[in-house]
Order: sequence, then C-alpha cells, then structure tokens
Amino acid sequence: MEIGQVIGSTTLRGYRFVIKKGAEEHVKRDEFVLVYEAVTDNKIIGIIKDIIISNELLPDEFGRDLRLGDILLTEGEYPVPTVKILGHEGNSGLELPRYGIKPGSNVYLADDELLKWILRQEKNSSACIGSLSTRENVPVKLSVNDLISRHCAILAMTGSGKSYTVGVLIEELLKKKGSIIVFDPHGEYREINLDGSQTKVYSIKGDYKIKIETSSLRTGDFINLVPDLTDAQKDLLDAVTTISRKFYKRYDLNIIKDIMGLIYDAKNGKEILAESISEKEIKDLSKKVVLTTIGSTMRKIERLNRLGIFELTGTPIEDIVKGNQLTVMDLSDADERLSETIIATISRQIFDARKSYVKDGEGKFDIPTFLIIEEAHNFAPRTSEDRKILSKSILRKIAREGRKFGVGLCIVSQRPSKLDSDVLSQCNTQIILKIVNPSDQEYIRQSVESVTEDIVRDLPSLSRGEAIIAGAATNLPVTVKIRKRITQIGGEDINIVAEWSRKHQD
Ligand SMILES: Nc1ncnc2c1ncn2[C@@H]1O[C@H](COP(=O)(O)OP(=O)(O)OP(=O)(O)O)[C@@H](O)[C@H]1O
Ligand SMILES: [Mg+2]
Repeated sequence: MEIGQVIGSTTLRGYRFVIKKGAEEHVKRDEFVLVYEAVTDNKIIGIIKDIIISNELLPDEFGRDLRLGDILLTEGEYPVPTVKILGHEGNSGLELPRYGIKPGSNVYLADDELLKWILRQEKNSSACIGSLSTRENVPVKLSVNDLISRHCAILAMTGSGKSYTVGVLIEELLKKKGSIIVFDPHGEYREINLDGSQTKVYSIKGDYKIKIETSSLRTGDFINLVPDLTDAQKDLLDAVTTISRKFYKRYDLNIIKDIMGLIYDAKNGKEILAESISEKEIKDLSKKVVLTTIGSTMRKIERLNRLGIFELTGTPIEDIVKGNQLTVMDLSDADERLSETIIATISRQIFDARKSYVKDGEGKFDIPTFLIIEEAHNFAPRTSEDRKILSKSILRKIAREGRKFGVGLCIVSQRPSKLDSDVLSQCNTQIILKIVNPSDQEYIRQSVESVTEDIVRDLPSLSRGEAIIAGAATNLPVTVKIRKRITQIGGEDINIVAEWSRKHQD
C-alpha cells in the first residue's frame, strides 16, 4: 500500500516523507515502511521514528514549492514522518543500503509477510513473546539459544509488567522442555503450571523446604547470615567452622553448636569428651574466649538452626535442575541475608556442577539451565554500603562465564541504576518496559551496547505490557506487545479503593 512520497534530502540512515490522502491512520510511530533504492531497486525497510507536524502559516522551506494536489492537508497542517532506515533484504538478513533513496520516491507500508521475514526465527528454537506493537499479526519470536546462553535483562519501573513478562518467558521455555529456576522474593511464581510440564516449589516454611548443605558455606558466609555478631563472636564462629571443616567431611549447625559446647565445658574446667576432635585445639580456643561470648554465639546459631534450612546435606541439585521443570525458590519468608545466601549457594552449586560436566566431563549434570533473579538490584548491587552481598560474585561469574557452561542468567529489576554494571552489560538481550526515571535510563544507555539513544527516548511512553526488545535474541530492536499469559498470575495489583470500601462496610 502506497502511503506517501519522500521529500527533502535523504541520507543512507533516514528520510522524511509526506502522507498520501487516506493513509493517515497507517502512519504512526514504530510502523514499518519501505521504499525502493534508486540504483538497485532493493526494498529498503525503515521504521517511523518521529512525526513532525508543521503549519502552513509557519512554513518550513521544504513545504513551499510542493505540488499539494493529493497531499494530506488538514486546515493548513501537514505531518512529516521521519524514517530510520533498517536495511534491505540480503543474504544474511538485513543489509544497509549503499546507493541511497531519491527524493520523490514512493513510500509503501511494509506488509506483514515482509516483517515476518525480517524478524525470522527458526520455529523450533524460538520463544513467542508477543507481537509487534503496531502489527497484531506479526509475532515476535526470540532466539532461545541466544536468550539463554548470552543472558538477558528485564528492566522496568514498578508495576509495568516485568513479572508478567517473566511468566510469559517461562511458559515459552517450558514449551521447549527447558530447565528453569526462579528465585522469587515475593512468592509470585508458585501458581505457574503449564500443562505437560512440572512446577516444583521450594520455600522457607512448609513441606518442601529449601535445604542448604552447611559445609558448603564458606567462611564469611556465616558471618553474613548471622546479623549483629560482635568481633569476638565472629572470631569464635570462624575458628569453630575451621575446626568443623578439619574434622568432619560434612557438618551442620548442630555440630557447630556441639563444638561450641565443648569449648564452653573446657572453659569451665570440665573434662571434654570428644572422640573425633582434637582436645588440644578445643582447649587452646577456650583460653581465647570469654564464657558470655560462647553462650551468645550459641544462641544466635540456634536461632539459625531452628529455620531447618542448614543441614548436613542440601536439596540435591538434580531435583532443582530438571528438564521440563520450573523450580520456584520461594523466598517470600526469607530476610535479605538468607535470600542472598540461598541464591549464592544454589547458583554456585549449579555453576560448578555444569563447569565440571562441560569442562572435565565429570558428573552427570548434562542439562543446561536458566536462572531467573527477581529484584536483581538487591542480589547484584552496584554498591553496597556496609557489607558484602554474598550473591554478587557468583552472579558476576555466571554473567561472565555461564555461556560456556550452559548456565543462563535472567536478571529482573525495577532499579537498573542500582545494578552492578558488569552483570548488566553481560546481559545481551534486553527486554525493557516503561522507564521514566532519567538516571535509570542513562545508566542503561551507558552500560548496554545495544540500547541506543532512540530506544531510551521511547521508554517513558511505553504502556503497560509493552516492551522494547533489543540485543542478541532479536534481529533488530522492536517494540512488542507482550502476549497474554496462559498460566495463572501472581502478584496482581491490589485495588486499594475497593479494599478500603469493603473494609469500611465490614
Ligand atoms: N502484558 C500484560 N498484559 C496484561 N496485564 C499485564 C501485562 N503486564 C502486566 N500486567 C498486569 O500489570 C500488573 C503489574 O504487573 P507486574 O506485576 O508484572 O509488574 P512488575 O513490573 O513486576 O512490578 P514490580 O516492580 O512491583 O514487581 C499486574 O496486575 C499484571 O497482571
Ligand atoms: Mg514484579
């Protein structure tokens, strides 16, 4: 369909045109158009990025000498769309034009088939996440291999549809029989249940508890877990874990407490009855601490022990990482320190297991997997004021090296400017929904290669459920209407006014 005629000077990057009468409704931002290159007759595809409306009474020089016969003029006004050139059909996808476009060339609407061709994805390895926001009939499919192996980021201000989009993505990956693990601070993903695949939910309370192998915690991990330790308590805990590590292949918090009990007894001059532990080490340690320190540290460890999470053996990763399975790690009952520890230890185990499988052919951990980190700015923050965030270093490592070992990372955040820039810049596909905050916009533009000025400019005007997708998993940046979810949605907006009035009636 012919929609206009090129005016003014053109460049290899873009042109402007005037609209044919009757074509007004088709000319809108993000619509795809095409013109023929003068020399080669190649179809040059472009996207409308702006529409300038001028008025006859305030003329632009290019408007003056135009034959106005069939040009749209509404009470002296004429809109002039600006087109950014994307390229023409070539052997390896879109190629940039070489010869340029003649002023006066006809401008056509690019048809759906052509757009499908541009966005082409192999049927078996792509995830259909929605359709072009300007064309309902043109599905947008992301390359699953690129999405996972080269990581992705889902960024937007609060309430604009990040978790909803994650849900769509999970559904698509389950259709591909994928292995997906979501660390879920708000318990929003428990209800996802796609026919033909399994959802397994682990949590802090309840039947399926997350279990962490205590001996997999590194020194320092403990210190992080137990808040408000004094220096003396830290030293004691440090010494006791060192002893546990030396004398036991595997230990849990009970063993740590028992050793502290022995130190307590030794301090009191009691005979200590330890079979497998060196009496000398206990006695030496007892000389360095005061009784109250031992007592108070034991109480803090007991508090941790009561959670029932730190045990001799952890949840087997073979149960967590399984094909055709979504594993939800519901962290809604965990505080931030516990959440960090869980994310860190489980991601580390998965990464290490995949690494030894791929690199050394060891173990039977033969399935690539995708880790989704909600509220990622809390777990891989750019800066943290007073303490080390345990999960940050392993998330950085996965972002850097995960590709080689088939461990994909998806970070989800409403405060991109608070994210670690290494992690963010390694996420090669970006799904960005509405963002208004200028410092978040600027930070994304600086950290992420594929996010251009153009894209950033469009972010505030996106509506809920609309996203710009750019980077590795798509052939070109596109504005997408995210498709409807098949599975149940958690974390819905609360209708506050309705709840107030219901409360009032009660
Ligand atoms: N594409 C969509 N289609 C229909 N409804 C949507 C869509 N995206 C989001 N919503 C609805 O908008 C609301 C907010 O979405 P969501 O919870 O995904 O936001 P969020 O970005 O994750 O917010 P937060 O930062 O608070 O986690 C929900 O009620 C959700 O159902
Ligand atoms: Mg959310």
